[in-house]
This record gives sequence, structure tokens and C-alpha cells, in this order.
Amino acid sequence: MDKSNDNFLIIDNISKNYGVVQALKNVSFTVKKGEVYTLLGENGAGKSTLVKIIKGEETPTKGDITLDGETIKNYSPMVSKAMGIAMVHQELAIFENMTVAENIFPACDYLTKTGAVDKKRLRKEAQDRIDMFGMDLIPSQKMDTLTVAQQQMTEILRAISAGSKCVLLDEPTSGLNKDETENLMKIIDRLRAEGITIIYISHRIAEVMHISDRITVLRDGEYVCTFVNDEKLKEIDLISRMVGRELTKSLYSRKAYTDTISDEVFFEVKNMNKKNAVYDIDFQLRKGEVLGFFGLEGSGTDSVSRMIFGLEAMESGEVFFKGEKIDKVTTTTMVDKKIMYINNNRKTAGLLLNSSTLNNMSMPVLKEYSRGAVINNKRLTEHTEKYVDAFSVVIPSVYQKPRNLSGGNQQKVLLSICLGKEPELLITNEPTRGIDVGAKAEIHKFLLEAVEKGVGLIVFSSELPELMSLCDRILVMKNKHIVGEISKEEISEEFIMTIAAGGI
Ligand SMILES: Nc1ncnc2c1ncn2[C@@H]1O[C@H](COP(=O)(O)OP(=O)(O)OP(=O)(O)O)[C@@H](O)[C@H]1O
Ligand SMILES: [Mg+2]
Repeated sequence: MDKSNDNFLIIDNISKNYGVVQALKNVSFTVKKGEVYTLLGENGAGKSTLVKIIKGEETPTKGDITLDGETIKNYSPMVSKAMGIAMVHQELAIFENMTVAENIFPACDYLTKTGAVDKKRLRKEAQDRIDMFGMDLIPSQKMDTLTVAQQQMTEILRAISAGSKCVLLDEPTSGLNKDETENLMKIIDRLRAEGITIIYISHRIAEVMHISDRITVLRDGEYVCTFVNDEKLKEIDLISRMVGRELTKSLYSRKAYTDTISDEVFFEVKNMNKKNAVYDIDFQLRKGEVLGFFGLEGSGTDSVSRMIFGLEAMESGEVFFKGEKIDKVTTTTMVDKKIMYINNNRKTAGLLLNSSTLNNMSMPVLKEYSRGAVINNKRLTEHTEKYVDAFSVVIPSVYQKPRNLSGGNQQKVLLSICLGKEPELLITNEPTRGIDVGAKAEIHKFLLEAVEKGVGLIVFSSELPELMSLCDRILVMKNKHIVGEISKEEISEEFIMTIAAGGI
């Protein structure tokens, strides 16, 4: 194996087993100093496991890691920290009741002579970092008051502030919008120019092709191939190596369905307001229609999605479902009416991470599968297996805990829980965030089949291709108002962005 000086990292024949699950099988490759090296693969391919091994958080079952010319023995997160390796995890790892500054720097780095934390200095250092990287953050702000995107930016700042030689970024952009993603791309460019090695993971192929020097594809825990990212590389090459078969189209399109929209109003919101959150929100979802919402960060789409499900209180406004006014919009009344909400932040979205997937899936449907106090376990297992199959959840058995599933597979379980309840109306907020291309198509297909069966669907998404392939109509929000409505015939990415960014 090549051990020349410009190699930063050598992965040599690494395998990792978790009980019967073999997450990695004899993986070998080499990362050069100062390159952006991307790991690409479907949900459960082994990407996060591999970067956790590189960070010393997981121990490989076999194989060696050579870092900066040194083959590592007794590796641990402490050792990797000392060697200048920093990591942004796929799941947010923040201290919620601390400030932004305290999250960026360990407070003990800034002590006064008496040993107390020098808060003024800590804030100043944090402000300098925030300015240096042009981020929209305030050092004294408490983490739990931030949006998911701002929390993510704080975590990224922590990793790149640590005097790092190598930064591992596991899906850093999954919670970021277009502008924030572009900003991160600039930051990565800068780090690369400074000679810092970046190992990058993302499901967004366009972004991967923009930022990477080289791209390694993993499939089912195995090394497949490495592409040099030059003009010749095509998106389809990456996708077909990732899924191991030809994919004719990466998204499932609503256009394949017959036009079944009726005039009947299925769900309606009238004059919904909340100061500083949303103003004059009026819309109707007709029976058989898929309605989309698009808006840039801060436009108010997130609040609309939460308010119409009762997760956030409205100050005024009325909500109607199947012609009847809902007196009190709370999550309990909505679930009773078979209205379900799929959240965009899976950490707080209600997965019981330490209970089995079967238990998680059973929660909302226990009543349907029980007679009195007797639960029909066989049917519950069949119910769970049906969804596990439909979404190709990579899981050894339905008894596996969601904690031990890959990020994308957790998201699939969450979706299954909501769909398993057989809702009449589904409100989805970023339904396929962090989900790979192949599974995304399956989930879109599943959603649209539900629509065919009469389920109402409202999709809030920051991914325009997703909205364009699912929706019949898209409402565009800006400055907390609905500012535009686009019908299926007019839908184009440029047009939606022009309205959302305020060009029209
Ligand atoms: N602690 C664990 N215990 C048991 N199995 C695990 C554990 N961690 C990961 N796995 C399994 O290892 C495999 C690889 O998971 P990993 O998280 O590395 O996938 P990934 O490529 O990061 O996927 P995603 O794109 O969904 O994040 C999966 O089948 C997962 O269920
Ligand atoms: Mg992962």
C-alpha cells in the first residue's frame, strides 16, 4: 500500500460487525492531505460507521488505520482529538441549555486568573469565529432557541474551530437551506486551501459533485469504487454504482397518475395569524390534490406546518377538515381525526430509540391489533414487516432498536409509523431528508399511492425537485406571508425561486 507523504489517512482492510450485522466488509482506500473526499452510498451502506471509526468512536472488528504516517494502536476519541481530527455527527450533538459560544469552545479554554470562566473573552472569540465564517449566529444565544439550521451551523463552527487537520462532516447540510449550504461550500473550499483534509458525507448528489475531489462509493458495507471528480463524471454514474442497478429516473413523478382532483374542499385554513410568525394564511386543499409549500429559511413555512397540526398555537384563524370546523387545533384532536404529521427533526420526532422497531411501529396501531387486553403479536409483526419491506429498511429483524439503525433508516421507520396509522391527511415536513435516492423514489411512490386511495397530502419541503415531482400546486411563502401560487403546469425551479427570493 502507498504510504507516501501526501497521504493523510489510510484505511486498510477495515471490517466492523455489530452482532450479526456486518456494517463494513474489508474496506480499503487512501485519503490525501488537503483533499475533499466524499463517501457516497445508500442508507445503511456503512458511511457513518466508517467515519466513527476514523474518529476513534467505534473500534473496527479488524483492519488498520494509518493517520499522518502513523499506524494507530489503542485508538480513541481523545487520541483523534489530539491528532487534530474533528467531526460533525449526522445527529446533532449540541448542549441545548448552553450558549452558542459555549458550544463552539469548551469553556475551560477561557478561564480567568481565579479559575472562573471568562465569559467576555469566550463571547469575543466566538464572535470572531462567527464573523470569520460569515454565519448568522449570536454568541450569547441559548442553543434551544435556535433553528435546527443554526444549531447545525454552531456544530460545524465547533469542528472547524478546533485547530483541526481533518474534519469529518456526516451529512452537515441535511438541515441547511440553499444559501446556508452555499456558505458551507465556501467554508470547505477555504479549509481545503489551508491544507485541511475533509471527509464528507451527503445524499445530495449535486452538492457532492460540486465540492469533492474524489468520491468513494460504498454499498452494503463494501467498497465499490472511487471516482475522480472531473468534467467526465456524470450523476448517473454515481447513482448506478450506489444502487448497483440502472435507475432511469431518480424521482417518482406525480405526472404518472391520472387527474383525480375534485372540487370538494378537504382541508382548509382561514386567516391564520401569529405575530412575528405568520400573517393572513389562507389556503384550501381539495380532495385528491397534493399541495406543496416552499419558502426560504425564515419565510414562515415551518410555523405554518406546525400550527396546522397544533404543535404551535395560532393567535387567530380557523381550520376546517372535511367541511367541519376543528374547534381546538391540538395534536391530540388532529391525531384523533387521523391527521398525521411527519417532522423534519428526527431527533425530537418521537422515535423511542431504545425500544424495538416493532414497539415503535405498534404504538399508534395497538388498538387496531388488540381484542380487549389481548394484543395480536403475529399481526403486529406482519404490519411492521410490511412497512420494513415497502421502504427497504436495512434492519436485521423488527426487534432491532432504532438507535442501532443508520440515520436514513430511522427516518424510514418514522415515516412507517405515520403511514401505518392509515391517516386521512398527512402533513409532511421534509419527508425524505437524509434519505438516499433509491429509497426516496420508493417513499414518493408510497405517498402518491396513498393519495390515490384518498389520503390528503400537504408537503413542506426545501427540495424543489421533490415538490415538483409530488405536488399539483405549490404555495410560495416569503416574509411570513403566502406570496405566490403556482399550478402544476407552471412549475419550474427558476420560477419558484424567483418568487421565493422576491424577484417578482
Ligand atoms: N450500534 C449499532 N448496532 C447495530 N447495528 C448498527 C449500529 N450502528 C450501525 N449499525 C448498522 O450498520 C449498518 C451501517 O450503518 P451506518 O449508520 O454506517 O449507515 P450509513 O451509510 O451512515 O446510512 P445513512 O445514509 O442512513 O446514514 C446499518 O445496517 C446499521 O443498522
Ligand atoms: Mg449515516
